[in-house]
Amino acid sequence: MATIRLGDTAPDFTAETSQGTLNFYDYLGDGWGILFSHPADFTPVCTTELGTAAKFKGEFEKRNVKMMALSVDGAASHAEWIKDINETQNTVVNFPIIADEDRKVSDLYDMIHPNADDTLTVRSVFIVGPDKKVKLILTYPASTGRNFYELVRVIDSLQLTAHHKVATPANWEHGEKVVVSPSIPTEEAKEIFTKGVEEIKPYLRLTPDPTA
Ligand code: BEZ
Repeated sequence: MATIRLGDTAPDFTAETSQGTLNFYDYLGDGWGILFSHPADFTPVCTTELGTAAKFKGEFEKRNVKMMALSVDGAASHAEWIKDINETQNTVVNFPIIADEDRKVSDLYDMIHPNADDTLTVRSVFIVGPDKKVKLILTYPASTGRNFYELVRVIDSLQLTAHHKVATPANWEHGEKVVVSPSIPTEEAKEIFTKGVEEIKPYLRLTPDPTA
């Protein structure tokens, strides 16, 4: 198992899931993907996370992002747990959860951190671009549920910066001003960004979100 870093090709796999056997690349098609792991079935934080993920499916779909979750329990366990998630979180889990009993995908993506827990996965997030390269990695401990607003926000940034020569500043949200990429001279930036370029320092230039 090699460490996966940003820019690496996301490893492909075929796995049993709550929606049958799926191949990761086939499932993603030409779009973006988000793969996130959960420590175990029938645990409280994971239950809230998967319920929240289900409620966010529309936001991911709008951005052409397919969701796939993972837990190291089996498909029969997932099926029972999904009933609980739907009931308690008032939603319908509508994306596949990998049944990673043999730890194949967890190992492939280095989701088990033995100094945190020997057997359960940590809360990993991998965002994969249409080129199958890893664009973002997050790791949370079992005790801290993830913020799905942040996942959507970061996808907005990844998709914007994939197509425009900009970067997004701290706490940026879609529609707010963005930073001109440091590699672009200000004179050139003024030609590219017709909505205007505000030079605060030679290295700190702002321009309106080109997609807003
Ligand atoms: C949870 O999802 O609530 C959880 C799972 C493993 C350890 C701690 C919390």
